[in-house]
Amino acid sequence: MGKTGLLTQEELQDIIKDKKIKVMLETGTYLGDSTLEGSKMFEHVHTIEIVPELREQAIEKCKDRDNITFHLGDTVKLLPNIVDEIREPCLWFLDAHQSGPETSNNGEEWVPLLKELAAILEHMNRDVDNVFTIDDVRLFSKHWDWEGVSIKSIEECFRVHGVEIKYRRIKNDRFTVYV
Ligand SMILES: C[S@@+](CC[C@H](N)C(=O)[O-])C[C@H]1O[C@@H](n2cnc3c(N)ncnc32)[C@H](O)[C@@H]1O
Repeated sequence: MGKTGLLTQEELQDIIKDKKIKVMLETGTYLGDSTLEGSKMFEHVHTIEIVPELREQAIEKCKDRDNITFHLGDTVKLLPNIVDEIREPCLWFLDAHQSGPETSNNGEEWVPLLKELAAILEHMNRDVDNVFTIDDVRLFSKHWDWEGVSIKSIEECFRVHGVEIKYRRIKNDRFTVYV
């Protein structure tokens, strides 16, 4: 996997704008680069990775930070409980997908995005600011593993869950939704 997709603090600031976001949850830790950047911006970062060795490498990379929880497992299974615990304004950075030989998937979908989104929308605190950033717009609907993932299907997921989108934008290959 290349270096594309890494979030910098500058971009994170541009994403959250003036919102008082306290927590970032990342799906797909990989080597922990975006995790590390997020940990310098937010009070706490949760990140979820299905490959134990990648999680270990990420922990090593972030060893100087004490505000990160590294979850091991399938986002689809873990998210309901984790989201239940997050009551603060949150940036949901959705980036889990099989993306190279050292990465993996949950055996059912290579891109679990729509299931992740549904779990978050069902369990999140709707009384605070929530920002969703979904990575890799260039891949949406372009390959078999991204089939069904589109701006339309993502927006439909918000509609079905009764969550109103206030503003949306596409920038730097990321689709960001403000609710
Ligand atoms: C594109 S990489 C993440 C990059 C990372 N967010 C960053 O910005 O540096 C995607 C990661 O998601 C992981 N992954 C794929 N499916 C997953 C799932 N169902 N649950 C947890 N992690 C998953 C892969 O093993 C891979 O490490």
